Amino acid sequence: MKLLLLGSGGREHALAWKIAQSPKIEKLYVAPGNAGTSNVAENVAIKGDDFDGIRRFVLENGIDMVVVGPEDPLVKGIYDYFQQDEALKAVPVIGPSKAGAVLEGSKEFAKGFMQRHGIPTAGYRSFTGEQLEEGLAYLETLQAPYVLKADGLCAGKGVLILNTLEDAKKELKEMLGGMFGNASSTVVIEEFLSGIECSVFVLTDGKNYKILPEAKDYKRIGEGDTGLNTGGMGSVTPVPFATKEWMQKVEERIIRPTVEGLAEEGIVYKGFIFFGLINVKGEPMVIEYNVRMGDPETESVMLRIKSDLVELFEGVAEGNLNEKTLEFDPRSAVCVMLVSGGYPEAYDKGYAITGINEVNPESIVFHAGTAMKDGQVVTSGGRVIAVSSYGADKAEALKLSFEGAKKIQFEKKYFRSDIGADL
Ligand code: AMP
Ligand code: GLY
Repeated sequence: MKLLLLGSGGREHALAWKIAQSPKIEKLYVAPGNAGTSNVAENVAIKGDDFDGIRRFVLENGIDMVVVGPEDPLVKGIYDYFQQDEALKAVPVIGPSKAGAVLEGSKEFAKGFMQRHGIPTAGYRSFTGEQLEEGLAYLETLQAPYVLKADGLCAGKGVLILNTLEDAKKELKEMLGGMFGNASSTVVIEEFLSGIECSVFVLTDGKNYKILPEAKDYKRIGEGDTGLNTGGMGSVTPVPFATKEWMQKVEERIIRPTVEGLAEEGIVYKGFIFFGLINVKGEPMVIEYNVRMGDPETESVMLRIKSDLVELFEGVAEGNLNEKTLEFDPRSAVCVMLVSGGYPEAYDKGYAITGINEVNPESIVFHAGTAMKDGQVVTSGGRVIAVSSYGADKAEALKLSFEGAKKIQFEKKYFRSDIGADL
């Protein structure tokens, strides 16, 4: 099979690494990819939202399947674009339809969906610019901290958590006033939930689903979970509090009603669902949905999938995922993310990266923001490289990843040395 994977981050390198191991793969392309994906696949210089460019490439190269890494092409409707094109129709796209991608593309839709299907989530109300006064009055009925969410996609920046009523009111005015452009023309205000977060992933064909290994992500830039939110500074799987019993609650109360709810509402969904959960006194609740795998969770989760991922994708495409097996590796897996100094605010790019070959071969180095320049791997993003490792337990895996993180060098490198320490 010839497979085209869309995306260019650490998540895509990890997916490409796993896909390339499948005996079914004759040729793997990644568009646009990064310096790391070119080690396991062929990079193609096409952007994920250049649907016409993707169409041409798929037809000229006889691509048999397209796997979508990031949310952007999904929210823009790449699934539907393929379905509506006679020549592309037969090529399965692993990812939801545009209607399904709204689960991530609109917080208001996601909250309404959960309410309709009785899925546990924080209480909420949503407001538009015309309803500013009502929004301000609603804030007065709540207790601190206040959670404000821009309805649309804001590259992970659209959620504000405020400690005082005064700040919450000020931010609500600014958000509805266009702080995030159109994305915040509607704002969801929701109840603050207190607990530890956990990312749960499923692959679904729209009817059947397989639950992938869960993971914990470390979102803040600073040690001890302090400072600004980032895309994610590291991940750990398995998550100790995600016991068999807890995961059973997740499946019964959250996963099954989501998959059934999508089907009931006639929403075509053949791809990954990412449940951003929070454990509130032992009860799982949904913080958010994403319509793709997590990054950097993928950089540890892929290590724990023993089965052929491409065979699972075939099950998604053919609607017989229930006939496929998904076996987990019993070991722990972790990833530690190396980032550019300054990230998640302004940072420089183009620094030479050395020492990758000195990393213990038991670790796997996934590139996130890297590029090739004059035959040298250089930094090209905020999150630069993920060092992933297996271990008999979390501690053993972390030891290997931290060793690797120290061996890789580039100017202003930074990583969190407390990944996994809270578990
Ligand atoms: P989201 O983009 O919805 O995942 O929100 C970003 C982050 O904000 C989450 O990962 C949580 O850490 C935090 N967050 C979002 N909603 C809530 C909530 N209702 N209560 C507490 N924390 C939240
Ligand atoms: N790691 C969180 C995300 O991918 O959104």
